[in-house]
Formats: sequence, structure tokens, C-alpha cells
Amino acid sequence: MSSSKHTETIRPARNLSGMLRLPGDKSISHRYAMLAGLARGVTTLTNYSTGADCASTLGCIAALGAQVNRTADSIEITGTAGTFSAPAAPLDCGNSGSTMRMLSGLICPHPHTFTLIGDESLSRRPMERIRAPLSQMGARIALTDGHAPLTIHGQPLIAIAFDAPIASAQVKTAVLFAGLQARGITTLSEKIRTRDHGEHALRAFGAQLTRTPEGISITGGQKLHAITASVPGDISSAAFYLAAALLFPDSQLTLENLGMNPTRAALFDVLAGLGGQVQILNLEEQFGELVGTVSIRGPVNGLSGAEISGAVAAQLIDELPVLAAIAPFTREGIRIRDARELRVKESDRIALTARGLRAMGATVTEHDDGLDVPGNQTLHGAQIDSGGDHRIAMAFSVAALRASGDTLIRGADAAQISFPEFYTLLNRIAER
Ligand code: S3P
Repeated sequence: MSSSKHTETIRPARNLSGMLRLPGDKSISHRYAMLAGLARGVTTLTNYSTGADCASTLGCIAALGAQVNRTADSIEITGTAGTFSAPAAPLDCGNSGSTMRMLSGLICPHPHTFTLIGDESLSRRPMERIRAPLSQMGARIALTDGHAPLTIHGQPLIAIAFDAPIASAQVKTAVLFAGLQARGITTLSEKIRTRDHGEHALRAFGAQLTRTPEGISITGGQKLHAITASVPGDISSAAFYLAAALLFPDSQLTLENLGMNPTRAALFDVLAGLGGQVQILNLEEQFGELVGTVSIRGPVNGLSGAEISGAVAAQLIDELPVLAAIAPFTREGIRIRDARELRVKESDRIALTARGLRAMGATVTEHDDGLDVPGNQTLHGAQIDSGGDHRIAMAFSVAALRASGDTLIRGADAAQISFPEFYTLLNRIAER
């Protein structure tokens, strides 16, 4: 995605308040769409992610023979009952690493040749992490210098015991999707528990998974059935507004129908630890996913500070840019470590976060695996280049709310990737 197509001017705000329902979670949307494509029957999904990434997944499963019918309110996917067809053209994953990695696991046992391509950013991202376990299962996958384009020659698979060397829910899900279609029982263990939407989604579509002390196991050969489901609101999109609410002592924001999966909810601990008053209400379970209402009020005594490292850094990986972006307004600053993965996201998010903060006048120290952003700093409006990265565009739009003067976000349209409504809803809740 070009980084200069569209600019957005963000004016400072004096407060933030309101009540919103957000579009569906990106991680869950991808998984539901992929499994719907493999299942037998017609799956109906409401509140599917409105982002371009999840549209890329729909495009790919349609190219594989599923029928996809998208209306304003819902998506109907008629599955292929376990038999993907050979696509007529390369599968275009756009900007979406989730699509490329998880789809590879899903399609590699099908007897066709598949080519997966992506945009410039996706074509730079590491793909060996899926090639290694999938080829251990018998898949034939060729990469281009470790990256996309990626060619898969479909083959029958055999189960493996996989000890995940990196904390990645995309890789875990790719292996489980392949394991579902392999001969034998695939077992997967991870040192850091990553988001478990793949496990919940597989169960939702009728697969049985077992959790043992060694990890999670799936028996190959299970058939999936269609479901009717609503996708919970996206907690990573919510993070931008929740972080923004911390910037104003009188803020009051309520987000309804929000996904609160415990493997994603470390965010609430960090927000509360910083001084936000966080309340969670009306929790219910939908296909294994917790959904509820979150209310946040600004800090009574200002924002303290945080150290985010270890397992929490992995669990908050998508939220780190916005947490770093509000760090100058804390008393003690925010220290982020063990987040080297940020360097291989849609952009090098450590470098771009440091660059953006400096452009707004802050001092920041960049580390190989994180950032130190001291507190008690002020920011001034600046020109920020998103680098084509949706989370960078949105993180600096949040920082801009407390800067002096306007901030111009270049490549602001990157937000389309996960959250096209971001600026409209921000303007609705920001009081000027
Ligand atoms: C995702 C997992 C994370 C995250 C990404 C979505 C998923 O990536 O950054 O936005 O849906 O499984 P990794 O698996 O690379 O950690």
C-alpha cells in the first residue's frame, strides 16, 4: 500500500466520550471465513471485519471454490465440503500476513498447485516460519528467498508434534488447519500462550481439539459443518480509542459487543495499571469467545508508567505502537522489550514508532527488541508518514489528540487494512 495516497489532519481534542460498537475482530473474521470455505453448508457471518485484510481472505476462499455473498449486514459463505478447487490465478493476500500464513496451512493438503502473492510489504515478511512445520508434515512449499511469492504443490499430510519456536498465533493456526486434514494426531505446544481464536474457531465449526499438558492436539480427518455467528468487536481496533481515553482525565468511553478473549485481554491490565478506570460488564460466551462491554474513564491522578516485556509483549504485540504513542504523557514512561517481532510486521514498527515520536518532539530510545519512551514530555503537531502501516497511522492519530497544533498523517488510508471507520468514529468521540 502506498504511504502517501491520502492524508488526514488530526486536530487536538479537549476530551473524549461516547459509546461505540466496533466492526468484527480481524483475527476471528479470517479464521471463520477460512473454515467456512472448507466446511459443508452455508455459513452466515454478521459483524465481519470491514478491513481490507479480511476482504483478501474472502477473495481467496472464493477463488478456491467457496461461494461468497456479501451484503451490507452479513456474509454468506457456501463451503466446498472439504474439496478446494484449483484457483485460476494466484491467490492475492494483499497486505495480510494472516491470510497468507493461515491459508497456506489450510490449502497445502489439497491436490493442486497454488501460488500466493501479496503487496510489497507482505512480500518482505518472513514465511519460513510456516514453511518449516508444514513441510515437516509433508507439504511441498517453495518460497522466494524466504518470502512470498509462495508456491504450494498440494500433497497428503502426516501429523507432527510441533514445539513452536516463536510466539505466533498465525503459525499455530496454520499447523492446526493442516493438522485437521493430516493423517494422525497433530500436537502443538507453545512456550508463550498466543491468541487462541484458531482453536475456538475449529471447535465452532465442529472439530474436536484436546488440551493436554503437552499442548493442543487435533485428530486429522474431521469434517466441518457450517455455522451462523456474529464476530465480536475488534479489541485491537478498540485499543486506539481506549488508549486515547487515557489522555483525558474526564473521558468516558463505552464499547459494546467487544471481543475479550483472555489471550488478548492483557490490554485491560496495562490500561488499568497506567491509571485508567476500566470496567467490564455483560460478559457472555459466543463459540468460545468472550464478548462484553468495556467502559473506561480517564485517570484521576494522571498516568503512571509501564514496563511491557516477556509474554505480555507477545500478547500485546498489535497494541504496542499505540501504547508507545501515549507514553510521553505518562509520568514514568513506558519501556517495551521482547518485542522484536514488531520489526517484521506490516512495517518495522519499532523504527516507525520511534521516528513518529521524534517528529512530534519526543525523546525516545530504540532497542533491537523494543523502545524506551520517557514520560513527562509534550508533543507538538507534525507530519507523520504511516509507512503504509495501518497501526502506525492510527497510533499517531491518537498521540495527535494531545499534541499542540495539528498533525498531518500521510498515508492515512492505511487504516483501511483493519479499520476503515477509524477516523469517522474518532471524530465522533473526540470533543474539540
Ligand atoms: C494474528 C497474530 C499476530 C498479530 C496479527 C494477527 C492472528 O501475528 O500480530 O495481527 O490473527 O493470529 P503473529 O502470529 O505473527 O504473532
